[in-house]
Amino acid sequence: MNELSLINDGAVAVQGDRIVLVGPTPEVLAHAGEDTTLVDASGKVVIPGFVDPHTHLVFAGDRAEEFEMRLQGATYLEIMSAGGGIMNTVRATRTASLEDLMIQSRQRLDRMLAHGTTTAEAKTGYGLDTENELKMLEAIRLLHQGHPVDIIPTFLGAHAIPAEYQGRNEEYANLVIDEMLPRVEREGLGKQEGPFFCDVFCEEGAFSLEQSKRILEKALEMGMGLKIHADEFTSLGGAALAAELKATSADHLACTPEEEIKLLVDSGTIAVLLPGTPFGLGEAHYPLARRMIELGVPVALATDLNPGTCYCEAMPFIMALACRKMGMTPAETIVAATINAAHAIDMGHEVGSLEVGKKADLLILDIPDYRHLVYRFGTNLVETTVKAGRVIE
Ligand code: NIG
Ligand code: FE
Repeated sequence: MNELSLINDGAVAVQGDRIVLVGPTPEVLAHAGEDTTLVDASGKVVIPGFVDPHTHLVFAGDRAEEFEMRLQGATYLEIMSAGGGIMNTVRATRTASLEDLMIQSRQRLDRMLAHGTTTAEAKTGYGLDTENELKMLEAIRLLHQGHPVDIIPTFLGAHAIPAEYQGRNEEYANLVIDEMLPRVEREGLGKQEGPFFCDVFCEEGAFSLEQSKRILEKALEMGMGLKIHADEFTSLGGAALAAELKATSADHLACTPEEEIKLLVDSGTIAVLLPGTPFGLGEAHYPLARRMIELGVPVALATDLNPGTCYCEAMPFIMALACRKMGMTPAETIVAATINAAHAIDMGHEVGSLEVGKKADLLILDIPDYRHLVYRFGTNLVETTVKAGRVIE
């Protein structure tokens, strides 16, 4: 993960939406034709567009009030068990029309793109009934179609127990399995071009290990890829479950025991780490990224963009945090935010690196050395973004 294969004085040639040549500038320029458009990046850094493999991009409203409550001492899980938290956003999202939901979410997507994200994952999970979960999937599909950023959808019907099912957790888990997942399949939402994932919030007050397993097994049967919110606040065995089911990714892993981290090495599961979440919550406990990397677990980084724990669209800020709070090197954070992140959403063959044949998603950073991307923070250092071969204006 610490190997970037840097090319000094390099260039990238693009034809249509693909990379056709990468190498030293004189070699690449020798292939330029008369009609070639040249984009000058002299003295700057060119890297792949960021892939953000874990976001809750689509939601209505905000939770600025809860942020203030937490500053005064309330905890995230306390607010959640008092009917606030995710349920707060569920109320706003259920009330919002599809169009309104898209207007609000598109503003965030624009901001993600402005900070260099060219491919992202987006979850449902603020509908929590069949119609509203489908509405969220539709919003994700339409945003993907109408925006330069490519979006990979994830069904997260098991994000929280909705108010109307309080005390009937098992019944709600059954609803996800018996009604929501089949509807998602029947309406062809899981069958669109590209990957489609199912995710579960395995946590005290959300879904038990056993419920998470049943939901993910059903999704696997239907051919969906698997993800899990594991060990964000408490350790219920979610990481071991991810390894057992060979999930594509296990996300958060803030309090995963060492034995379970070890299981991820052999399962090929990518650890998607979200340091913006403890930061957003003002907590001191971050995932053990160094230990994971030492053991050989592939680590990716994501924003976790959501209105509760981490309202942040910018991958570079997450990378800056990863260096300071998890001891990752600048090079490791770039790998984690590009190629490893692409693999975390099954898109490693298409995006995440500057290689011939891959989609031409790249960034020109206004910095003299790649380390400046994380050494500096809080300002946007992305100068130019190329998405699928087109310069974004
Ligand atoms: O990844 N933990 C569950 N989901 C989100 C938070 C969602 C919310 O609070 O609205 C997370 O942190
Ligand atoms: Fe999340």
